[in-house]
Amino acid sequence: MFDSGDFSETPLWYKDAIIYELHVKTFFDKNGDGIGDFKGLTEKLDYLESLGVNAIWLLPFFPSPLKDDGYDISDYYDIHPHYGNMRDFKNFLREAHHRGMKVIIELVLNHTSDQHKWFQRARKKDAPKKWRDFYVWSDKPDNYLDARIIFQDFETSNWTRDPENEKFFWHRFYSHQPDLNYDNPEVQKEIFKIIDFWMKMGVDGMRLDAVPYLFEREGTNCENLPESIDFLKKLRAHVDRYYQNRMILAEANQWPEDAILYFGNGDACHMAFHFPLMPRMFMALRMEDRFPIIDILEQTPPIPDNCQWALFLRNHDELTLEMVTDEERDYMYRVYARDKAARINLGIRRRLAPLLENHRRKMEIMKFLLLSLPGTPTLYYGDEIAMGDNHFLGDRDGVRTPMQWSADRNAGFSRANPQKLYLPVTIDPEYHYETVNVENQEQNQTSFLWWVKRVIAMRKNFKAFGRGTIEFLHPDNPKILAFLRKYQDEIILVVINLSRFSQVVELDLSPYAGYTPVEVFSKNPFPVIQEKPYIMTLGFHTYFWFVLKKEVVASPEKKVREISLLKSKSDWIELFSSQLKTKIESMILPQFLMEQRW
Ligand code: GLC
Ligand code: CA
Repeated sequence: MFDSGDFSETPLWYKDAIIYELHVKTFFDKNGDGIGDFKGLTEKLDYLESLGVNAIWLLPFFPSPLKDDGYDISDYYDIHPHYGNMRDFKNFLREAHHRGMKVIIELVLNHTSDQHKWFQRARKKDAPKKWRDFYVWSDKPDNYLDARIIFQDFETSNWTRDPENEKFFWHRFYSHQPDLNYDNPEVQKEIFKIIDFWMKMGVDGMRLDAVPYLFEREGTNCENLPESIDFLKKLRAHVDRYYQNRMILAEANQWPEDAILYFGNGDACHMAFHFPLMPRMFMALRMEDRFPIIDILEQTPPIPDNCQWALFLRNHDELTLEMVTDEERDYMYRVYARDKAARINLGIRRRLAPLLENHRRKMEIMKFLLLSLPGTPTLYYGDEIAMGDNHFLGDRDGVRTPMQWSADRNAGFSRANPQKLYLPVTIDPEYHYETVNVENQEQNQTSFLWWVKRVIAMRKNFKAFGRGTIEFLHPDNPKILAFLRKYQDEIILVVINLSRFSQVVELDLSPYAGYTPVEVFSKNPFPVIQEKPYIMTLGFHTYFWFVLKKEVVASPEKKVREISLLKSKSDWIELFSSQLKTKIESMILPQFLMEQRW
C-alpha cells in the first residue's frame, strides 16, 4: 500500500511518524503554580517542531486522584484542573494540528480509579446488578489464581476486599485501580462513548493502556485472551466507521508471537509496542554483540501491511525486564542497575543517559538504532538533552521530573517557589539543570540536542526507515550490526560498530556489485561495491547510514562546482522579476543547495 502526499493527510501517517512522549505536567508551567499545563505545552510546540517530531503522545491528563500518575482516572470527559481546562486542551490540539503534528492520547480502558463514580455506585451494598457488574467481584479471592501480579513490589494479590460491600474486587495493577468488567456490554458501550468524545474533538490516535488484561477466564493466565482481541476488533471497526486517518496503539508487554495478536489481520490495532526488542538493544550494546537484536527480530513474525511496530528505548515506566529470560534479567540488572535502589518491580527506573553512564557515543548509537530499525520511533521527553533521573523520589517519579529548559530558577520550567513544584528538578551534579538544559544545548551546535535534531531530519528524507523491509548481513565480526532497509527503489545500508574498540568488517554486498554507498550526512561516496567482500574499518562506537546508488557518484568535495552565472541587463531588481525568479527558485537554487554539505 502506498499513499503519497502530505504526512498529515495520509491514513498511514503513523508509519512515517516520529513520536514524542510527554506528560503535560512535566513540560512547561505557564501559570506559575509549579505544575506544567496545556498553555505551557502549547508555547513549547515550536521547540517540538524544531526537534523534528511530528506526533505527540500525551500521558493521562484527566481528572484523577493521581495515585498512579493519572492512570487512575476518575472522569474520562474532562481535563485535570492542574493542567488547565477543555478550552486550553482544544487550543493545544489546534496549534499542534496547525503545525502538521498528530496528537495521541491515552485510553485507560482496563481499569478506573476507585474514585470513579462507576466504582462508587458499584460498591454500594444494595447496588443494583447493572451497576455492580461494571467491575469484577467475588466472595472469595480465589478466582483466576494463574494471573501474575504485575506491580509485585507493591501488591500481594490481584484481589482486594472492599470494606463497603465486603466482597473482593479484581485489579491487575494497584488496589485503587479496579478492573472494568468487559463481559458486561454496558462497559463496552461506555468505552465507545469515551472514544467518540475525544475522536470527535479531533485527536489522531489513542494508546490503549494495559490492553492484554481486558477479559479474565478461569484456567488461563488472563492475558491475550481471544475475547480481548475480538473486543479490539470491534473497537477498530467503530473507529474506522466514523473517523478518518486515526490510529490505535496497543500497550501489550508481551512476547512477539503474542504481541502480534493485537494487529489481528490488520483489523485490530494499527500499532503495538515492541517490548522484547527494547532491553535487547541495551544488551547488544553492553555485550558488544549483535546477537540479541537479530535473534529477537528473527523471532518476530511478519505483521500485516497496514500495521507498524512502535519502538522505544525509555518511557515513563521502569525499563521493563518482563520479556527476557531469567539469565538475561540477571545480566541487565548486573550491568545496568548495580545500585539496587534503581530497580523496581521487574525493571530499572532510570533514564537513557544515566543508564549509559552519560556516554555520548553510546547514547548516539542507541538513538541511531532506534531510528534505523523497522518501526516508528518513540522518544521520551528530556532524553534528547540527556537528562538525568532521581530514583530517591519513589515509584517511577525519578524519570518524570520537570523538563530542563535553562539554567534559570526551576530549570526555566516554572516561576513557582521551588518547593511548590510537582517534583523537584534534577540537581545531581552530573546532570544538574544548570548545565543540562535546552538553552545551553541550542547554543552549542555540537550538543546532543543538535545531534538528535540532525539525525531526525535526515531520517525523514527516506521512507525506507518507516516502511521498508529489513535484511540482516551476517559478517564474521559479531560486534558489527549491519542491515539493509529497502522500500521501492530506496536502499539504505546501516552499519553500526557496537564495540568500544576499532573494528574491521567484511560485508557481503555482492548483490549490489556496481552500486556506490553514499554516506548520507556528508554525501561522500565510498568505494564502489564489487563481487568480493566489502571491507570497512570502523572507529569505536561508530555508525553509518549509506544510500546505495546505482550510478557512480562524484565526491561533493572533489566536484568542481560550476556556479550559475546570472546576467542582468538593467539592475539586480530585474533578477527577481517573475520570469527569472521562477528560474532561480526552480533550478538554480535547488541545484546549489543539493551540492551543499548542510
Ligand atoms: C501502564 C502504564 C503505567 C501504569 C499502568 C497501570 O503500564 O504505562 O504507567 O502504571 O499501565 O495503568
Ligand atoms: Ca501550571
